[in-house]
Formats: sequence, C-alpha cells, structure tokens
Amino acid sequence: MRRTALVLLALTAFTAIPTAATAAADIQAGKALFTTRCASCHHVGRNARAGFGPQLNGIFGRAAGGTSDFQYSEAMRASKVVWSHDTLRAFIHSPGKVVPGTKMRFWGLSDDKQISDLLAYLQTFQ
Ligand code: HEC
Repeated sequence: MRRTALVLLALTAFTAIPTAATAAADIQAGKALFTTRCASCHHVGRNARAGFGPQLNGIFGRAAGGTSDFQYSEAMRASKVVWSHDTLRAFIHSPGKVVPGTKMRFWGLSDDKQISDLLAYLQTFQ
C-alpha cells in the first residue's frame, strides 16, 4: 500500500514538472526581454521591416535567410535551417553553434525560461 502511494507520488511529481514549465511561459516577460535584448536589431509587428537584423514576423516555419529586404550572411543563406521551436531555442542560446559564421552579434541567452518566454512572445506574431 505504502509503496503504491510512493510510486504514485513520484509519478505525479515527474509529470507535473514539464507541464508547469510550458504553462509558465510568460508573453509579457518575453516582450520585455525582446525589447531589451533583440529590438535594437529586430522588428516585429505591423510594418516590421529589416533594420540591423531581419524582421521576425511569422518566424516559426520560415526558412533561415528567408526575408527579401535583408542582406544575410552567406552562412545564414546556406544554412538550410528552418526555424522551429527547437532550432530557434538552440540559435538564441548560441547563434554561432547553429549557424557558424552568422553575422548576428549576440552572445546568446543561457536561461531556458527566458528563451521560452521570448518564443511565446514571438509566437504572437505568427
Ligand atoms: C546586434 C544585433 C542583433 C541582436 C541584438 C539580435 N540579433 Fe538576431 N540577427 C541579427 C542579424 C544581423 C541577423 C542576420 C544574421 C546573418 O545573416 O547571418 C540576425 C538573425 C536572426 C534570426 C534569423 C532570421 C532569419 O530571417 O533567418 C533570428 C531568428 C534572430 N536573429 C533572432 C534574434 C533574437 C530572438 C534576438 C534577441 C534574443 C536577437 N536575434 C538579437 C542581429 C541581431
């Protein structure tokens, strides 16, 4: 009896963690992060266009180097990356590892929660 209860407890603990992490992605926090960490180079929203970096509307499912009003690096154009949750997460974490030779000058974010928040915010521009 006690054993069953313990196993059940362990199971709920395990299943609760990933759900909590996903549900906790915070669009407002992502917006604040985008404003301080990305917006000096990237635009999103209506009338977004290339600035120091390409605009990021509809980024999920977009091919890397896919906008027509930005001059990408050869590395980005040749990368054949398609932006998804996974590739974006990896790129934001360390741009040069996903696209070696990219001209995006950004050290990367190491905090997974911050990246989730950022992605939740970018998702609102799909
Ligand atoms: C200092 C300017 C700068 C900052 C800050 C910056 N980026 Fe970039 N980003 C660029 C440039 C320039 C490119 C194009 C890179 C290339 O062509 O190699 C780029 C490319 C990208 C791409 C690929 C877009 C495409 O069309 O393929 C994504 C996604 C991206 N950045 C996301 C972000 C996010 C999210 C942040 C904030 C966490 C950020 N960037 C911060 C300059 C920047």
